[in-house]
Amino acid sequence: MDKSYILIRGGQKLSGEIILQGSKNSALPILASCLLCRGISVIEHCPRIHDIFMMTAVMEQIGCKISWQGHALLVDTRQITATVLPMEYTGNFRASVLLMGALLSREGCVSMGKPGGCKIGSRPIDFHLAGFHRLGADVKEKEERYFCQAKQLSGADICLPFPSVGATENILLASVTAKGVTRIFGCAKEPEISDLAKHLVRMGARINGIGTNEMIIEGVGAECLHTVETRIPADRIAAATYLIGAAAVKGDIELLGCGEIERYRSILCVLDQMGAKIWIKDGRIRLKMEQQGKGVRLITGPHPMVPTDIQSMVLSASLLASGKTYIEENIFESRYQVVGELEKMGGCICVEGKRAVVTPVQRLSGCKVNVGDLRGGAALVIAGMMAEGETRVESLSYLRRGYEDIAGDFRRLGAHILEIDNG
Ligand code: EPZ
Repeated sequence: MDKSYILIRGGQKLSGEIILQGSKNSALPILASCLLCRGISVIEHCPRIHDIFMMTAVMEQIGCKISWQGHALLVDTRQITATVLPMEYTGNFRASVLLMGALLSREGCVSMGKPGGCKIGSRPIDFHLAGFHRLGADVKEKEERYFCQAKQLSGADICLPFPSVGATENILLASVTAKGVTRIFGCAKEPEISDLAKHLVRMGARINGIGTNEMIIEGVGAECLHTVETRIPADRIAAATYLIGAAAVKGDIELLGCGEIERYRSILCVLDQMGAKIWIKDGRIRLKMEQQGKGVRLITGPHPMVPTDIQSMVLSASLLASGKTYIEENIFESRYQVVGELEKMGGCICVEGKRAVVTPVQRLSGCKVNVGDLRGGAALVIAGMMAEGETRVESLSYLRRGYEDIAGDFRRLGAHILEIDNG
């Protein structure tokens, strides 16, 4: 039972600056890619979060040697002793599925149970398995375990029914040493996909169409791939968390180490709709919000649309806005779980299927709330900063999967917030 919690006393404006952590959703597939060759990879600016710790734990189970030097993660993949991914690990987080493509490419076989992850929808892996099958793997499912085998993967044309981030990453990882050319049509083009593809090219892979929804991979021999040192870009969703938080409680904050601003475009458009003033210079984003935020229209979708991962946080920020907010969630079918907890604080939200309408209220009242998923947890922290009185956010294990120190970051920005670790 996770007894840790965060205490927040609302009403404080935010000010100051923080340096952004590395991107969880870039680091996880890049970590999996280390399996593609034998040697020691160095991943700089790797976020020290539970999803990464769980991924390295699984990799150690199959023979990898892992060590940390500050925020640099060293991964030694010279000895892989197994290709069965233990359920007690993979059942806890979604990204474990990314080890399938890399292991299938390196060892010609892999088996694992159904991956875990935030319960924001059914989250099947049919697109992943269909991709492996198209590449010539024999794919079997038995009692919720998957078995994939292929003497030699062969390049193929693969059409994704939906631009799935994970399936695009897994097919990329499997196809880089497939014999011949693989073309992925309708692939996802989130910045994290480009981060992985550019990393694979630095390792010796041949990939064209990076950043588009049609990528062409010319398979190379495994001996052509080599380890590299790589630096994980800033986490754009963590950035959104702090910017939306500052817009929600007013303030003037600056984020350092943001990297290329293009990856924040859709997030900054939402903040602009809310009425925030934004300045961008030298990889820094400054946000100033002096008045009550406005209501917004938010439609989530595949990149370059608004990322689904900021939806819950915008929902929170809109509870005290000057006008109604209309949200349409098009990626996950159960991503409104946080609504019940926000209503306990006084929020007025009407959910019908994939749509939610937020009618602003005069105030929110702090109370005990429970985290049910990673970004819903961030939304509750933001609501706690907006509320009168004290809010106790319980079950922090979800938050720790994606944020190095969300409470500490907001405290450094002036929030009255404390994390109590009863672990
Ligand atoms: C990745 O999840 C991210 N996780 C998610 O971030 C993010 O919300 C999501 O992409 C969308 O951007 C990581 O990168 C580790 P999808 P993923 O495959 O790959 C359906 C966070 O908070 N689908 O793009 O699991 C699926 O059910 C997390 O950081 C299938 O039907 O997302 C969903 O409805 C949450 N079959 C939609 O596609 C499949 O085989 C998009 O899922 C695969 C997906």
